[in-house]
Amino acid sequence: MTATIKATENKKLALPPGIKRYGLQAIFNLIFRPIPTLERYRDRYGDIYYSPSFAGFPPFIIIGNSEGVESLFTADPDLFETGSSNKAIQPLLGDQSILQLDGEPHKKRRKLLMPSFHGQRLQSYGEIITNITQSIIDRWQKDDIFLMREAAQEITLSVILQAVFGINEGNKYQQLRQQLTRYLDLFNSPVYTTTLFIPALQKNWGKWSPWGNFIYQRDQVYELLSQEIDKRGTATEGEDILSLLLSVTDEQGEHLSKNEVMGELMTMLFAGHETTSSALAWAFYWLHFHPSIYHNLKDELDTINVDSDPMEIAKLPYLSAVVSETLRIYPIALFAFNRTLKTSWEFMGYSLEKGMSLGPCISLVHHHPDIYPNSKEFKPERFLERQFSPYEFIPFGGSNRRCLGYALALYEMKLVLATVLKQVNLKLVNSQPILPVRRGFTTSPQGGVKMQII
Ligand code: HEM
Repeated sequence: MTATIKATENKKLALPPGIKRYGLQAIFNLIFRPIPTLERYRDRYGDIYYSPSFAGFPPFIIIGNSEGVESLFTADPDLFETGSSNKAIQPLLGDQSILQLDGEPHKKRRKLLMPSFHGQRLQSYGEIITNITQSIIDRWQKDDIFLMREAAQEITLSVILQAVFGINEGNKYQQLRQQLTRYLDLFNSPVYTTTLFIPALQKNWGKWSPWGNFIYQRDQVYELLSQEIDKRGTATEGEDILSLLLSVTDEQGEHLSKNEVMGELMTMLFAGHETTSSALAWAFYWLHFHPSIYHNLKDELDTINVDSDPMEIAKLPYLSAVVSETLRIYPIALFAFNRTLKTSWEFMGYSLEKGMSLGPCISLVHHHPDIYPNSKEFKPERFLERQFSPYEFIPFGGSNRRCLGYALALYEMKLVLATVLKQVNLKLVNSQPILPVRRGFTTSPQGGVKMQII
């Protein structure tokens, strides 16, 4: 049973109820079984509860209902620092990306990057997405068995490299693709995931130690990106993100440093394809796990052609509902970024001190029984029956930090699903339910969703 905390009952409290200290077992559970663990604590302490310091993250308040999320997302963003709360991600992406910025520099960076993911630019990616998907389908043969997550990763990485970065096929492109995949796949291993969460294990004892290998693989990616930046030099007339980053100047006419450009590229590469490929693998899984949902979607896809306008495909209601339900049931990011208070603040009846962090828990909100009855059931119809508020359905977070690439992610998921399902018949190789597992800071379907072409 969920105990909902009423603000008025706790008016004078500084902190909500919660955990005093995590033991080793609890840390292990939070890393490797995060969803049941968060739900167990929620059942014990309520929708909003206190979490002590955990693996590099300072103490914070976990928000598991839409009222709390609304209160946070509608507050003045200048009350919070988010960049400093993202320190744990630093080893992965460096310390020079939009994720680490706050205040005016953050606003400016968002303004610079935003057009690359919206409006005309976004529309122009439609053809690239379908062409990339088609080239992968063309390689598939009847009876082939493959991991859907890997196929989806190939598609989403090509999209981000070609459409967003303007890096086209060629030697460098192949090298970057292979090296990046090698780097990110390290987080399929529990050993590497543990080192990310336990700073004491982040010791570089050479290439054969987990952290040493992690640094080595990351530096290989940096090196390839660095070569790409040098190759572009001052040829920055393109509309792609790399050209934008290389051409922008501040009030003093200074360009971004090479480290800043690299940090941003790493962020876009990581945030832009790792998340979307896991989401796509889930969508294929759910559709093939529930034949009736698959057939409903196929009926809708029969109303369009393979070469229909991508924007029309993206508007299909059942396809949109399948994508939303996929992102609801097992959100790729369990939490939006933590927001740390720069000043004291009244939140849901608590008088919080400066320095306290607040963590919107996407997974708990998406399974709140008041919003989503039978929340463990995959049911796209719920998105046709009612509209959810931006505090009830939050796969991309919200407020001034809302995911920059959300429109691209949704567009890409819909176009890839439509392009594949219209032409290829697939089946799941195993009929057992698949559960989410951690992949670094995100979650992904266990085993990568093994499928066969029939
Ligand atoms: C299914 C795919 C994706 C999911 C589930 C996802 C989820 C998220 C979440 C939860 C946040 C934190 C928002 C907050 O704290 O309020 C975020 C931030 C961000 N995402 Fe995504 N994302 C996805 C795809 C993408 C793509 C395709 C890109 C673009 C390349 C992208 C770029 C970013 C960036 C740059 C931020 C930081 C925004 C800021 O700090 O202002 N994401 N994303």
